[in-house]
Amino acid sequence: MTYLTCPVCGKKLTKNERSWRCEKGHSFDEAASGYLHLLPSNKMNSKLPGDNKQMVNARRDFLRKGYYQPVSDKLNEVIGGLLKDKKSPLLLDVGCGEGYYTSRLKEALPKAEICGMDISKLAVNAAAKSCKNVMWAVASSFDLPVADNSCDVLLSMFAPICMEEFSRVLKPGGVLVFAVTSTKHLWELKEAIYDEPYENKKEDHEYEGFVFEAKHKVQDMIHLPCQEDIANLFTMTPYYYKSSVTTSQRVAALQHLDTLIDVDILVYRKI
Ligand SMILES: C[S@@+](CC[C@H](N)C(=O)[O-])C[C@H]1O[C@@H](n2cnc3c(N)ncnc32)[C@H](O)[C@@H]1O
Ligand SMILES: [Zn+2]
Repeated sequence: MTYLTCPVCGKKLTKNERSWRCEKGHSFDEAASGYLHLLPSNKMNSKLPGDNKQMVNARRDFLRKGYYQPVSDKLNEVIGGLLKDKKSPLLLDVGCGEGYYTSRLKEALPKAEICGMDISKLAVNAAAKSCKNVMWAVASSFDLPVADNSCDVLLSMFAPICMEEFSRVLKPGGVLVFAVTSTKHLWELKEAIYDEPYENKKEDHEYEGFVFEAKHKVQDMIHLPCQEDIANLFTMTPYYYKSSVTTSQRVAALQHLDTLIDVDILVYRKI
């Protein structure tokens, strides 16, 4: 594995048992669960950056019930198609959270080298505990500890985007795949909690140095049969941060919900 680089000096990292070291002697030990911490403390903007325990647990508990499996299945199909002629491609999932999509990709594409990175140590620890055949690291999307031109696929599922870094680590001809919520995503949840729900904005962009290749739409009605799952879903959304007392009370009153998943998977190729 030669694609990981030292977050201090940028030289390649090599592995010796559970320790990773660069030629300048900076070394990083794997945590007990198996992940690497590649975010130096002087680059952390808080003690525990990224998603907190409540958000991590809510997303883990919600996703493992399979509500977003149609998104994961479509993603596996799209990436499987893109990599079908590659022998041992490298796929990097940035902002991987607890690794739901990452670990399902590894199951679908066992020959691919897969690495998941997230700035939240709690999320990466949960990912590393649940899946042992993916390389997991705590790192920022804005300063990836990854060699130039090393990745065949760069994946970002509902996570922050840094096009300069994504372009730097992708091979020429490599693909950037990202998922964004589309206009009607969770519409019925919004109708239930807001007096005047609004549709999400369309998120189609052009990126310098990339050509747009495809958009794959995933739409599916999901049935949530209990308050716990509804509360977990709400905690995963951006609405959670800005929720008023009334909104929180309306969420807490919901005992079951049918709502639409409306997600676009976008594919761009690096020129
Ligand atoms: C909406 S969650 C998506 C998680 C996962 N991709 C999924 O769909 O289940 C966004 C993730 O981005 C992470 N994140 C936020 N800022 C980041 C950064 N600068 N670098 C890497 N990850 C970041 C958060 O910790 C969180 O896990
Ligand atoms: Zn170093």
